[in-house]
This record gives sequence, structure tokens and C-alpha cells, in this order.
Amino acid sequence: MFENFSLWPESASSLSGSIDALYLFLIGVSLFFSLLIVAALGLFSVRYRRRPGHVATPVEGSLPLELLWTGVPLVIVLFVFVWGTKLFVRAQTAPEEAMRFTVTGKQWMWKIQHPSGQSEINTLHVPVGQPIVLTMISEDVIHSFYVPAFRVKQDVLPGMYTSLWFEPTKTGTYHLFCAEYCGTKHSEMIGSVVVLDPSEYQAWLDGRPSERDPLLAGALLFQNLRCDTCHYSGPATGPAGSPRGPDLAGRFGSDVTLSDGQTVRFDERYVRESILEPARRLSSGFQALMPSYQGQVSESDVLALIAYLKSLKAPRSRP
Ligand code: CUA
Repeated sequence: MFENFSLWPESASSLSGSIDALYLFLIGVSLFFSLLIVAALGLFSVRYRRRPGHVATPVEGSLPLELLWTGVPLVIVLFVFVWGTKLFVRAQTAPEEAMRFTVTGKQWMWKIQHPSGQSEINTLHVPVGQPIVLTMISEDVIHSFYVPAFRVKQDVLPGMYTSLWFEPTKTGTYHLFCAEYCGTKHSEMIGSVVVLDPSEYQAWLDGRPSERDPLLAGALLFQNLRCDTCHYSGPATGPAGSPRGPDLAGRFGSDVTLSDGQTVRFDERYVRESILEPARRLSSGFQALMPSYQGQVSESDVLALIAYLKSLKAPRSRP
């Protein structure tokens, strides 16, 4: 419908049609009332203009009229509120079976890592018809990941993970923008999302070496940083006697009881915080012995460690 109308971006995700519908409705309502008001303005200025022999009669007020102009807008805005909220919830809730990518933003580029380890800069290749979740973080300032054709935009923050999901419905190449002013070359922080048929995506993956499988990289880091001296992470390693740190195998996604009695979800955010500020939310029953790894690990390293911890799913018995 808007193919040749460059003001309107292409519609290429499972969400874009619904977002356009709401947007068009808002434009329609605004247009209708703008025209109505301008028409009434014109009509009244002719009809009630100053003429010799006519005396104005003051209007004291009209209850039915006031109820009407309060009630009608109320119904319209509540309708838009419910519609918008439903759409917002849909846009925020990623399907469970989604493929998970990680995105690191930095001045001035996007670094993207595929679930199978391949990474690329400023380009994101994805298969069509598959929900995609991006877990994103910034190495420096605030950026914003914006793909107009998918109608998705999400701030990418330093020090905190944010996420975004979409399901591309059409193969093709789409613009990727940074939508938050982030310094001199903000306008050059652009890229593209390439949507491929699943077989082509597989071929693309096969054609690229997995330079850094996040899982392997994470396992290596876990050893090199000597995490395993305190944290038992699998049947083969693990300290004897009473461990200084909590057992990490199979923990991802579960709840952790903290030393102050509160409960927190053992997720990306908690793992990242525990690596950088271990004493902040201490697991119950342990002392604050762990040093901070701030400055020793990059955001990509943290993501690799998270990938490794996620993989430690098998429940096991203590030795
Ligand atoms: Cu990154 Cu603007």
C-alpha cells in the first residue's frame, strides 16, 4: 500500500501491521477533529458575524453539550489506551522459542553475536519467520537500536541489559539506525538487518567461522579467571569441602535467596552484577569474599560467561 511512499517505512515484521493500524487510527482521529473544528470555525464566523440590526445573545452554558464534549474524547482516549497497552505488552513479551542474539553497542558501531557464536559488525543476518530476541548492552554511552521496518526501537544502556524482539516476515535488507545521540559519529552508527530464508541463513552461518563460540569462550574465561576455585560448576571440577561461593550448575533462571532474606532471579542482570559488584546482592550463606572483576572483563566477556552459566543445566548431586 505504501510501497512507493518513502515517508512510510516498509512493513516487515509480525508486529508492524498492528502498529501501523494504531498509528493510522490516531492520524484518522486527529484529522477528523481538525477538519471538524476548522469547518465549525469557518461556519460560525460567517453565521455569527457582526451585522447591523443583530444583537448577540450570551450563552450561559449547556449541560448536555458539556457532557458530550467530555464523554466523547474520554471514550476515544480510553479506547486508544486499551489498544495501545495490548500492543505494548505484545511488543514487550518475546516468545519462549525465540533465537537469542546479543548486541553490544559502542561509539560508533554495533557488534552482534549469533546464538551459534558467529559475530558481525553493523549487520545482522536473521532467518525469516523466526522470533528473534536481542539482549543488548552498551560499552560506553546510551545508544538506541532502531529498525523502522520492524517498528522496534530500544535504548541500549551502559551497565544494564535491555532487550528487544521481533519476527521478520519478509526477506530483504532493512535499515538499522542508532536513534539516540551518542557523539560525533552518531549519524554514522548505522547498519542493516538482512532477513534470509532459513536455508540461506544456515548457508550464511556455515560460510562464517565461529570465531568465538560464546559458550567455549565463557568456559575458558571461567577457568582463566579462576572462578572454579570457589564456584562449583560441573561434575568434573569443583572445590572439595565447603565451597566459598555458591554452586552455579543449573542455577540460571532459578531464584536466589540473598543474605538480607530477599529473593532475586538468577538471570543475565544478576550474573553481570555479581561479576562486577559481587558484594551488592550476596547469596545467602556466603561471605563477601569475591573480588570485583570490573575492568578485567569486557561486556563481551560477561556475555560469554553468561552463555556458559546458562549451559550448565544438568542437575547433579554434590560430591
Ligand atoms: Cu549510537 Cu547514536
